[in-house]
Amino acid sequence: MAAPVVIAATAKQTGTLIFLHGLGDTGQGWASAMAVVRPSYVKVICPTAPTMSVTLNAGFRMPCWFDLKTLDESGPEDEPGIKNATKHIHALIESEVSAGIPPERILVGGFSQGGALALYSALTYPKRLAGVVALSCWLPLNRSFPGAKTLNSDSLPILQCHGDCDPVVPYKWGQMTASVLKTMIRNIDFRSYRGLTHTSSDEELNDVKQFITKHLPSQ
Ligand SMILES: *[C@@H]1O[C@H](CO)[C@@H](O)[C@H](O)[C@H]1NC(C)=O
Ligand SMILES: *[C@@H]1O[C@H](CO)[C@@H](O)[C@H](O)[C@H]1NC(C)=O
Repeated sequence: MAAPVVIAATAKQTGTLIFLHGLGDTGQGWASAMAVVRPSYVKVICPTAPTMSVTLNAGFRMPCWFDLKTLDESGPEDEPGIKNATKHIHALIESEVSAGIPPERILVGGFSQGGALALYSALTYPKRLAGVVALSCWLPLNRSFPGAKTLNSDSLPILQCHGDCDPVVPYKWGQMTASVLKTMIRNIDFRSYRGLTHTSSDEELNDVKQFITKHLPSQ
């Protein structure tokens, strides 16, 4: 795997944001946007997914966190791949914890497939994290919840954002995901963006900025 893009804190580091890109992208794709929305005391880590063959794209190889067979909410999912990628994200979190940043000062987030992995990883991490930023995504293996969820994640703050004109990960799927999350998480904020497709916007990034500042306040 390529080394993650790391944006060091510019003040004394007291928090970390790990942000996961979407299918076919790299850590570089989101690094500059995250550098703008993070407070000075937050270090940003944007890893790049390993390159693998993707069923959805006729077997072409590209950066991918786990295999995607369809982008249909009821399609088959790559359970071993999702669990393997989750181990990798948990290891990234652990390395921040070993470096002295407690789990409740670590936010995870992502876009599309990266957002899906961020949600799954945070809900299954044994300790409560600072929060999740889930952009234009879904909850993988949703039928395994609430069983798969760790006890500490009930109060996990989640910001879930979705464009209402998303032709890739349908808006309706985002809404359905929010209702599944609401059955097990108290603190979920689902935001819709009018006219937004499968991408981000200044309005959305501003909401992300506020969420980060609220859940990783300066100490
Ligand atoms: C949950 O998973 C089932 C089975 O794969 C699927 O039919 C359903 O649409 C999914 N719901 C969401 C919100 O993804
Ligand atoms: C497991 O995940 C790692 C890191 O994401 C990746 O390098 C490896 O190829 C994956 N293995 C499988 C079998 O998916």
